[in-house]
Amino acid sequence: MTRSGFRRLLDVMGFYRGGISETILTTVSPDGFFNAAPMGIRRTSDETLELRPYKSSSTFTNLIDNSNACINVTDNPGLFFVTAFRGKSIDGLHEPVIDKEMRIITSVAHIFVDTSRGRDISRIQANFTCQVKGIEVKKMMPRSFSRGKAEAIEAIIHATRIEVFLKERRMGDVERLIKSFAECKDVVWRVSASDSVEIKVIREIEKMIVTWKGKV
Ligand SMILES: Cc1cc2nc3c(=O)[nH]c(=O)nc-3n(C[C@H](O)[C@H](O)[C@H](O)COP(=O)(O)O)c2cc1C
Repeated sequence: MTRSGFRRLLDVMGFYRGGISETILTTVSPDGFFNAAPMGIRRTSDETLELRPYKSSSTFTNLIDNSNACINVTDNPGLFFVTAFRGKSIDGLHEPVIDKEMRIITSVAHIFVDTSRGRDISRIQANFTCQVKGIEVKKMMPRSFSRGKAEAIEAIIHATRIEVFLKERRMGDVERLIKSFAECKDVVWRVSASDSVEIKVIREIEKMIVTWKGKV
């Protein structure tokens, strides 16, 4: 595919210059195991993207060892949940299947990148520039926008931070995030179907917050 082909596909998929899209990044560990984790990806130029993993993450460790990665595109809150909280499964949702090219097979597009240009941005966070090497898009039907899905994914982001802040005893930040989580929950409750993945994700996070608080 030509460079203009990459540019066009990134535009069509909603990776707009300067903006952050939430994706699931697959990487390989030093001992050869695949890892999948939700990561925000910012488009910085026509064919470059940027990601900022915390240095405490497996994603960071893996990228230092092996710069090949795959950005998986999805709007499925269930997939974000099981990759953010590995080992947790919710009714009908399982760990993602990753093929040998690092594709999560249930995602709708895959962007293969080289992340060999990395730098520190702080004591706790790094920045990797992602050079696009290939893009595959599955045939897709248009999808309507779902506030429930968007808010469920937002709730998962809050939950990943609540867990970290509780461990660090940052109780003010924890309370602020629990309030934000409650706002996400309100929207999901209003707009999502009672048997939807979004509702299951919210219920599971509520249980997790109770467990985490009990450990403090
Ligand atoms: C939608 C979403 C976006 C996220 N974006 C980032 C990110 O840009 N950088 C980061 O370090 N963590 C991010 N996280 C949190 C990580 O996915 C989470 O800490 C995960 O457990 C890291 O997994 P790993 O240790 O296998 O890399 C995000 C979480 C969600 C749900």
